[in-house]
Amino acid sequence: MEAGDFSLFYMDNFTFYSPTYFVFGKDEEINAGHYVKRFGGSKVLIHFGGGSAQKSGLLDKIRSSLKNEGIRFVELGGVKPNPRDSLVYEGINLCRKENIDFILAVGGGSVIDSAKAIAAGAVYDGDFWDYYEGKTVDKALPIGTVLTISAAGSEGSGDSVITKEKGMFKRATTGEALRPKFSILDPALTQTLPAYQTACGITDILAHLYERYLTNTKDVEVTDRMIEALMLTMIKEGPIAVADSNDYQSRANIMWAGMMAHNNSCGVGRSQDWTSHNIEHELSALYDCAHGAGLAVVMPAVFTYNLKHDVMRFAKVAVRVWGVEMDFEHPEVTALEGINALRRFLKSIGMPGNFAELGAKEEDIDELAHKCCYGDVNTGTTGGFVTLNEDDVKAIYRL
Ligand code: NZQ
Ligand code: ZN
Repeated sequence: MEAGDFSLFYMDNFTFYSPTYFVFGKDEEINAGHYVKRFGGSKVLIHFGGGSAQKSGLLDKIRSSLKNEGIRFVELGGVKPNPRDSLVYEGINLCRKENIDFILAVGGGSVIDSAKAIAAGAVYDGDFWDYYEGKTVDKALPIGTVLTISAAGSEGSGDSVITKEKGMFKRATTGEALRPKFSILDPALTQTLPAYQTACGITDILAHLYERYLTNTKDVEVTDRMIEALMLTMIKEGPIAVADSNDYQSRANIMWAGMMAHNNSCGVGRSQDWTSHNIEHELSALYDCAHGAGLAVVMPAVFTYNLKHDVMRFAKVAVRVWGVEMDFEHPEVTALEGINALRRFLKSIGMPGNFAELGAKEEDIDELAHKCCYGDVNTGTTGGFVTLNEDDVKAIYRL
C-alpha cells in the first residue's frame, strides 16, 4: 500500500478550528451588546425572521442590550424559512450604505444563513451567489447569533444554505470566515416553538448525525461513539420537548446536542455522506416545506436504498442506538429494524412519512432528481457514502 492510500482506510488527517465563543444558558441574550462590543462591532445590522422574535419580546431585549453598550444599529427582518437571495441582496446594500461592521442574527438557521450570506456579500465585489456555486468564502463581516430554534446547527458551523428564487435552487456554501464570532444559546428561547417546528429541528439534528455516521472510513470509534451519544440524547429528550414545550432541561440538552452535531467535532477524520441532505434540499426548494420534515421522508428511503453498501454499519447503529438485538446470521434484518425504529420515532414526534404527507408530487420526481444531480456541482451524481446517479435518486424519491 502507498503511504498516501492510508487515509482511505483509517482515520483521515484533519485540521479542526471552531473559534465560535458560545454563551449558553437562561437569559444570556441580555448580554448580546456586551459580546458584539467584545468582538469589535460598533455599527450593527440586526437580522431576524418573520415575527417570532418580535412577538416573544426577544428583539426588544436585544435592542436594549445594544443601546446599553452604546452600539448603533439598523434592522432588517423578514427572513423566510428556506431563506431567499432577494433579501440577501437587500441586506448587502444596506450594510454598504450604513457602513455596518457587525451582523447580529436573531433567529434560527434561516436567519443565521441569510446573515452569513450578507456578511460574505457585503465585502465582495462580485455577486454573492458566486459563493453558492463553488467559490470558497475567505472573507466576511463578523457575525454573532442569538439562536431561537435547535436544528440547523448554523450557530456553530461555517455553512450557509440559500434559495435562489429564479429557478428555486437551494445551494450551500462553506468557509471558516462564516463561523459566528459568538453564539448565544438560551434554551428558554426555544420554548415558544410550535411542537411541529421542535420536531423538525430534532429530525434535522438526527440527520446531521446520520450523515456523519455513514462513513467509508474504518475504525473511527471515537467519533462513532460521540455520534451515538448524541443520537441517544435526541431519542430520549426529543419526545419530552415535543410533548411539553416548557421543559427547560430537554431543550437545554437538545440545544447543545444540535450544536455538537454540526460543528463537525464528531465528523472529523472520516468521510461523510450528505445524500439525504442533497436529496431533501430539492424538496424544500420546490415545495417550501420545512427542512426537517423533508429529511424525515428522505432519510429512511436513502438508508434502505444504501443498506447493502455496508450492512454492518447500519446494523451497528441499530444495535447501539435503537436497541435492536443483533442477528448475526441475518445482519440485514438487524439493519432494517434500525431503519424501521428511526421511521417509528419520526412518526411518533409528528413528522411526515411519505411524499403525500409532505405535500410533494410524484410527477415532479424527474425534475427533482435532475436538479439534485446536475444543479449544484454538475457531476451527475450525489452522495458521499454511496455514489448515486440520477436513476438512483429517482428510485429513492419513489421509495
Ligand atoms: O421567522 P420566524 O417568525 O422567526 O419563525 C420561524 C420559522 O417559521 C420559527 N421560529 C424560530 N424560532 C422560533 C420560531 N417560532 C417560535 N418561537 C421560536 N423561538 O421556526 C420556523 C423555522 O425557522 P428556520 O430558521 O427556518 O429553522 P431552521 O433552524 O430549521 O433552519 C432551516 C434552514 O437551515 C438550513 C436549511 O436548509 C433551512 O434553509 N440548514 C442550514 C445548515 C447550516 N447553515 O449549517 C445545515 C442544515 O442542514 C440546513 O440545511
Ligand atoms: Zn440539516
